[in-house]
Amino acid sequence: EPTDHGSAPTEGLVVVSNREPYSHSYDGDEIVVDRPVGGLTAGLDPVMQRAAGTWVAWGDGEADREVVDDEDRVRVPPEDPAYTLKRIWLDDDEIDEYYYGYSNQVLWPLCHSDRGKITYEPRFWERYREVNRRFAEAAVNEVEPGSLIWFQDYHFGLAPKMVRQELGDDAMLAHFWHIPWPTWDDFRVCPQSEQLLEGLLANDLLGFHVGRFCAQFLEGVQACFGDAVVDWDSGVVYHDGSPTLVKPFPMGVDAERIARLAGSDEADRFWRDFCEEQGIADDAVVAVGVDRLDYTKGIPERVRAIEYFLDEHPEYRGEFVYVQKASESRSEIPAYQELQREVSETVERVNDRFGTDDWRPVVSITERLSVRALYGLYRYADLALVSSVRDGMNLVAEEYVAAQLDDAGALVLSDFAGVDETLGDYAYTINPYATEKFADTIYRTITDSPDERRRRMRQMRQLVTAYDLDAWMDDIFETVASLRDESAE
Ligand code: ADP
Ligand code: F6P
Repeated sequence: EPTDHGSAPTEGLVVVSNREPYSHSYDGDEIVVDRPVGGLTAGLDPVMQRAAGTWVAWGDGEADREVVDDEDRVRVPPEDPAYTLKRIWLDDDEIDEYYYGYSNQVLWPLCHSDRGKITYEPRFWERYREVNRRFAEAAVNEVEPGSLIWFQDYHFGLAPKMVRQELGDDAMLAHFWHIPWPTWDDFRVCPQSEQLLEGLLANDLLGFHVGRFCAQFLEGVQACFGDAVVDWDSGVVYHDGSPTLVKPFPMGVDAERIARLAGSDEADRFWRDFCEEQGIADDAVVAVGVDRLDYTKGIPERVRAIEYFLDEHPEYRGEFVYVQKASESRSEIPAYQELQREVSETVERVNDRFGTDDWRPVVSITERLSVRALYGLYRYADLALVSSVRDGMNLVAEEYVAAQLDDAGALVLSDFAGVDETLGDYAYTINPYATEKFADTIYRTITDSPDERRRRMRQMRQLVTAYDLDAWMDDIFETVASLRDESAE
């Protein structure tokens, strides 16, 4: 689906991320293009389509090597090329130790404040450093005078300092950290907390989704470095003499496009066919959950709350359906395998306990959905269940709201998700661990008056439309521009 190409927000933009926005794989002999699941690529691809720069990322598709030129570049989106994707190849050890290891078994649980899930091995760190060096070099190769290098996420905690050492003070470096930043008490568990903080402080701008993560980062810097000076009014921190502006930018979604596609014939068709196939009646209450299968998303907690709800409200047996669109993620990691098992077992148990010949309380969608089908699912679901136990933002919540063309749906939202800071006043708030209250909130959401639900949804839609992906991007690029002006003075 083509996106509007506005003016380029910055000259020579170089984005550096681990995950690539398009991956190529084989379908028999044919090469097909996939769009990986996840908030980062979903959000950044439209930004890059507007900026027309270069995106440096890990080429992990089976057929990724087949479509690149001599310099490992390919123009994307394939159907309407707007920018260059520069692929970096990782060998098996790098994938194992940098991606599955340090990134996803140390930093991911650490930043989501889940110490019990941390598995640390010294070789993970060594490899993380090496891969950061490789990406830093690749980014340096892409710069032109006036470029902005924009790092994404926790895979690149060291690369900014490496690039700074190479390019000096004139280079403009920004970083967006898509996941939470924990308290210093949690972060200092990390054996390399100091090196990571120093790596990030080489940026001119460091963005998090919400103010709390910025404050926790700045408190950590102060606690770690005696010489660090934080200006709490501006969010600027000085360490080793150079300033870094630390600022919240709550990520938005392309609300207009989501609304347009949610209103498409394909969205309608998908919903009609889906209900027919699954035997979902017109007057059934349908809840939806859309996630990567990640232990931060609170999926077993959600299914347990549904079980409790059906126990407490037998009148909803046969009437309530939870549609789960979950996709496997990071499956090499034991904690993710364990979660996958737990989710299947919990779903099975609930379906066995309550299911009848013509009704199953939990319906899992296993096949890929087109975006129109996904937005159709959002549009017609009566409620969305977003129950993260910890989450940087959660774009699914915003996508659901953006798809509510009739303002009829309701969002049940964990206040442990970053997006609670923007939508929390109008969502039906839950604590995912408080099973009884979570179940009670599901009941309240369903039985609240249509006017009240509409009032809440209208407010959320306004918020999601006003601070959409374009606004988020403009906010970041305007901040970069003002930093450039200041340093030119
Ligand atoms: P994360 O970045 O941790 O995966 P977000 O909720 O911020 O979480 O973003 C997830 C993005 O990936 C959204 O754009 C959502 O539509 C998409 N997504 C997540 N899970 C699925 C799924 N099972 N099927 C299709 N798309 C998904
Ligand atoms: O948005 C958080 C994030 O970790 C991204 O960095 C990542 O691309 C996405 O979730 C999906 O995870 P992965 O890239 O490990 O499949």
